[in-house]
Amino acid sequence: MQNYLSISDIDSLPEWVEEAKAIKKDPLKSKSLGKDKTIGLLFFNNSLRTRLSTQKAAINLGMEVIVMNFGSEGWALEYADGTIMDQGTSEHIKEAAQVVSQYCDIVAIRAFATLADKEKDEAEVVLNGFKKYASVPIVNMESSVEHPLQALADAITLTENTIKTKPKVVLSWAPHPKALPHAVANSFVQMMQLQDADFVITHPQGYELDPKITKNAQIEYNQEKALENANFIYVKNWSCYSDYGKVNNQDSNWMMTKEKLGNAKFMHCLPVRRNVVVEDAVLDSNQSLIIEQANNRTYAAQVVLKKILEEL
Ligand code: CP
Repeated sequence: MQNYLSISDIDSLPEWVEEAKAIKKDPLKSKSLGKDKTIGLLFFNNSLRTRLSTQKAAINLGMEVIVMNFGSEGWALEYADGTIMDQGTSEHIKEAAQVVSQYCDIVAIRAFATLADKEKDEAEVVLNGFKKYASVPIVNMESSVEHPLQALADAITLTENTIKTKPKVVLSWAPHPKALPHAVANSFVQMMQLQDADFVITHPQGYELDPKITKNAQIEYNQEKALENANFIYVKNWSCYSDYGKVNNQDSNWMMTKEKLGNAKFMHCLPVRRNVVVEDAVLDSNQSLIIEQANNRTYAAQVVLKKILEEL
């Protein structure tokens, strides 16, 4: 595998999940694979889980790790071709990506959506800029549109906790005071499209995700109805997609509660705002899979890095 930019880069989700589960049982088995190889983790946005789990995965594979908070420590990058760079940007992606490639064998990038310019966000200028100009493989650590490392960890978690052949999985929108990107929800939807599951998305009217991503996924605007007989409830806020990046609804009735959870398992990518997105009683219950999801981030990253290293 050359790059891991999207769920669509997974050739067989069941096989990847099984490989991740095997890695989890013996994380240091391929410790020599990454010897004398360096991964550069470039962060244009904050992170806890992605930063530490990707670093841990690389260490488990014997790699050296360079981390740079590019957003606060790097030069402001220019992405457009032919620009007269007499304004705020100091370095062009053409040079930056090639320079980073001199120091790293793999480069992983986190660059969130601006939520101000849909066209620019969907063009994935940062991720695609590095993909275009770097001479080494690129890994997506959450871009404007996708978070495929999270979704792969979620697939592992679902598999480990599924007790019936075709579980009901519900992606439920929740309120949040800030405008959040669509990447986690998008990748979760794309991952669920590869699963044998009864999958339902529930959100207030006007909060439809990009229809090019949801395709013919079942959408139920009545949360109570959507949650009936659910085995897994994945809660996530996202801002409006059609009224791009706006927060038009903060209705606390959409918050996940213990009563709504019923007997289902609870999932969330974290970080989460307690008693806004989901109440304490859910997060602190033994039905919550959030720490397992965070743990599985390491094995998701490790299966991705292993596949890239095997082809270097
Ligand atoms: N879920 C996730 O990506 O967490 P971080 O933003 O902390 O990396």
